[in-house]
Amino acid sequence: MSNSDPFQERVVRVLPSDVHYSLLVAPDGRFLGIDQSRRFNLDNEADDSRIWSVDEAHVQHVTRGVILKATSNGDFTADIDGKSVPCRVEHGPERMPSEYLAEMKSQGWTCLTRILSDATLEALERIACTDRYQDREYDNSMPPLCQDPAVARTAVEPVSMWVVRQYMQTADVRIAHVPGFAVLTPDDGKRVVQGWHSDYPYHWGINAQGKVPTSSGETVMGVQRNVCISDFTARGGATAFKLGSHARQEPPPKEWGIAADHYQPGYRAEHGLPYHGPDADIIEAPGGSIILYDSRTWHRAGINRTTRKRAALLQAMVPMYIMPKNDTSRAYKSFLNSPAYSGLNRREQTEFRKLMVHYHIGPGGQYAITTDRELTDHIRVDEAATQGY
Ligand SMILES: [Fe+2]
Repeated sequence: MSNSDPFQERVVRVLPSDVHYSLLVAPDGRFLGIDQSRRFNLDNEADDSRIWSVDEAHVQHVTRGVILKATSNGDFTADIDGKSVPCRVEHGPERMPSEYLAEMKSQGWTCLTRILSDATLEALERIACTDRYQDREYDNSMPPLCQDPAVARTAVEPVSMWVVRQYMQTADVRIAHVPGFAVLTPDDGKRVVQGWHSDYPYHWGINAQGKVPTSSGETVMGVQRNVCISDFTARGGATAFKLGSHARQEPPPKEWGIAADHYQPGYRAEHGLPYHGPDADIIEAPGGSIILYDSRTWHRAGINRTTRKRAALLQAMVPMYIMPKNDTSRAYKSFLNSPAYSGLNRREQTEFRKLMVHYHIGPGGQYAITTDRELTDHIRVDEAATQGY
């Protein structure tokens, strides 16, 4: 399509709801729930059994109807195995986790609107230097992951993680790269823009090594998790999708302008922008929302036609049997030694470790996968010496 063709994508607007549920969180970060015998228990996962409705007087378990009364000083405690466990009320989802999962299964995407607390969202805006921190200068002194616990806290957001695990049909999921900020600055009319593609590990439409050669059917090899830091709007550069295209199990059409072509210098000047007509979709969602989509879904980065930067935090989620896209081990080790790590509760620390550390099974247990400098140098020397073989 030419650079001057109007943007005509169908806009799917995800509006915030008046209802907002809560999670009750124990000091170690686990979530208070109620089992079938109406007994309190704690768990790391945030399924429907962990969802509470809160008003000024009391909190009520949504599916079991059990009411928890505040103590005289306004705290909530639950009796678990004879011990009184204090629980803090924390920001939760707008809808029940099972509703998001049902949507993910039926259409290949869902949006957990305003799932992040405002404090977490503000910390992400500060790191990205957008929105409330539009005029702040980017801090290059340490990786974003180490600047604030909010990055890892967002990566382990429990309701979206529950949906991802259920949709992938395995609890053993990983993050394929370090959570990455994507800040889209206003378009200048000539820069290279991203063409249509499917995400890691499928990488259809991209010239990448090791892309998935055939459809994977019922086996889900990737779910992309895009956190909207800024409001996502069509004009502001929200991601463009062909919603439902994951079910076609094939690459986007070349005539839509695929990523492999658009990354070539001069391609935009000669061929114009990738497809932005009425067969494409834009999800508009407020900042603090998490958009989940099956990684096979055709999509491309939006084109920012405002004067303000737009930020997102991107995470490619994969089952453990998929090779990570990038090395996460070094970033994770730096994170362990940063103050951001101690800002997480125990559940968040453990969950983030499970997502970030990939490992082999060897004699005597698990061995973390990391890069080997010496072996890497050998490969480079050997490849240079054996070119043409
Ligand atoms: Fe992508």
